[in-house]
Amino acid sequence: MTIFSRVLGTGSYLPEKVLTNGDLEGMVDTTDQWIRERTGILKRHVAGPDETCVDLAEAAARNALDAAGLKPTDIDLIVMATTTPDQVFPSSACLLQQRLDIHGCAAFDVQAVCTGFVYAVAVADKFIRTGTSKCALVVGAETLSRLLNWEDRGTSVLFGDGAGAVILGASDEPGIISTHLHADGAYKDLLQVPAGIGNGQRGSPFMEMRGNEVFRVAVTTLGRIVDETLEAAGMDQADIDWLIPHQANIRIIQATARKLNLPMDRVVVTVDEHGNTSAASIPLAFDQAVRDGRIRRGETLLMEAFGGGFTWGSVLLTY
Ligand code: ACO
Repeated sequence: MTIFSRVLGTGSYLPEKVLTNGDLEGMVDTTDQWIRERTGILKRHVAGPDETCVDLAEAAARNALDAAGLKPTDIDLIVMATTTPDQVFPSSACLLQQRLDIHGCAAFDVQAVCTGFVYAVAVADKFIRTGTSKCALVVGAETLSRLLNWEDRGTSVLFGDGAGAVILGASDEPGIISTHLHADGAYKDLLQVPAGIGNGQRGSPFMEMRGNEVFRVAVTTLGRIVDETLEAAGMDQADIDWLIPHQANIRIIQATARKLNLPMDRVVVTVDEHGNTSAASIPLAFDQAVRDGRIRRGETLLMEAFGGGFTWGSVLLTY
């Protein structure tokens, strides 16, 4: 019998503190108008001084467990996508495991920047399909605000903090239809945080992005991943009920929606309210659209993301 993984529940969490474009006008040489027109962002949430990435992840995970009607002890795999772990080690997944009082199951982080959640879902899906796991907690959580040079208007206006989670369970029906992952490290210099452990922590600890070049590669690459995903599933554009894109820039999202011939009311958009929350953006958007009743059981969803690395990928699923 073929095993599939199905979404049993979704959850999310946003820090209380909100930073509007107006607030940023007072911090850096920018305007609300420029940010709205070039990105679609109106505001973003920012973690408080004592709030960590695992705090956000825990809240989203508990939310998803409640939605699925499950207890932490039902989980037998934790995969956490983050670029902003609380510590170098233990992994954020292990820290989350401890918070949830789960013992013994595999727990690890996946680092693919903004594509992190797509990577994490793809990995968890493979654990479930092979019969290794029956119930996986997959989290995308970020405190990207801590990687920002607030004086760099090219990055500081774009990002926000948050967390989203899904519970995937084994099922004899899909579920996840397919996942597609890619990376090309040749683009490492276009989007990076140069500092690291291996180089004795030399280099800037803040994000550096050649935004315009990233934009151009993102639009063409996301167009290709849409084609690849539909072709692999033998589907066409009309089979997709909802696009849940990574939320980097409304113009990138609109370009992908055009490629799919989808009206914008079939696209889940949160970039206006959340900014770019990196690995958290897709599960945050997913949870929002499930909770407000837009996304219903049986509908076909396409998730796609592009981020530092470069990394890119997609998840096609029946909810
Ligand atoms: N406020 C006002 N002006 C600004 C700002 C700002 N915040 N930022 C840049 N500008 C100026 C620039 O200096 C430039 O001025 P100039 O013409 O005098 O030189 C002008 O605006 C245009 O700059 P561009 O960089 O060409 O603007 P663009 O339209 O490309 O928008 C943006 C910039 C929003 C960053 C866009 O390129 C983008 O969204 N890029 C992709 C981001 C992305 O998808 N990243 C991947 C995921 S993130 C991750 O993985 C961590």
